[in-house]
Amino acid sequence: VARTFFIGGNFKMNGSVESIKAIVDGLNAANLDGVNEVVIAPPALYLLDVVRNAKAPVQVAAQNSYSEASGAYTGEIAPQQLHDAGVPWVILGHSERRSLFGDSDKVVADKVKAALAAGLKVIACIGETLEERETGVTNQVCQRQLEAIAAVLEDKDWKDIVVAYEPVWAIGTGKVATVQQAQDVHADTRAWLAKRVSPAVAEATRIIYGGSVNGKNCGELGGAVDIDGFLVGGASLKPEFIEICKTHK
Ligand code: G3H
Repeated sequence: VARTFFIGGNFKMNGSVESIKAIVDGLNAANLDGVNEVVIAPPALYLLDVVRNAKAPVQVAAQNSYSEASGAYTGEIAPQQLHDAGVPWVILGHSERRSLFGDSDKVVADKVKAALAAGLKVIACIGETLEERETGVTNQVCQRQLEAIAAVLEDKDWKDIVVAYEPVWAIGTGKVATVQQAQDVHADTRAWLAKRVSPAVAEATRIIYGGSVNGKNCGELGGAVDIDGFLVGGASLKPEFIEICKTHK
């Protein structure tokens, strides 16, 4: 199965009305050939603007959503509201949500379940800290995080999931994983999916890499057999993001 290469741009809590419009205008003018799936995630406040301005093949993601459909949850956004506003994707389980905002494996799983139920597609993030890598538990950690999600999914749901492997030590640090380090975790994650879910799901599911991806390293990383795209943070705010969007297998 050929897996469509997937480029996510996570703006995190950056940007303004003006700067985000400039990024979208740049992507619209870039003649992306539509071979890759390209999904940008601005802060929630700017989602509607981006939904209105972004032209195909550029799609839009939220950076988070809640596990309930409506109600007294001040400050939260329901996945149904994202769907209503024309936002097709949501990033869930990002390490910054996990470490700074208390999104436990269980919270992430509940959010994933709710997002799928609302008709959204999910970029589900996993990844180990430096300490976990150094103590040799990288796969254990990634598989524990993914198991929490797998436990709330049916096999048919996996078509709407992209798994993002983001080693925490590589996020925003300029310290990108080596191609081999990333490829190893991606291959192990795919093997885990084959056993835990099914060989067909393992073969079809995109596993993308995130952590200091830039215009210089994207080509080499993207060449690895189990790396099916990127979740780009810092560089998604820069002109080089367009080059990254043009990475081809
Ligand atoms: O969601 C994106 C990742 O956290 C990567 O961020 O490219 O700035 O390292 P970064």
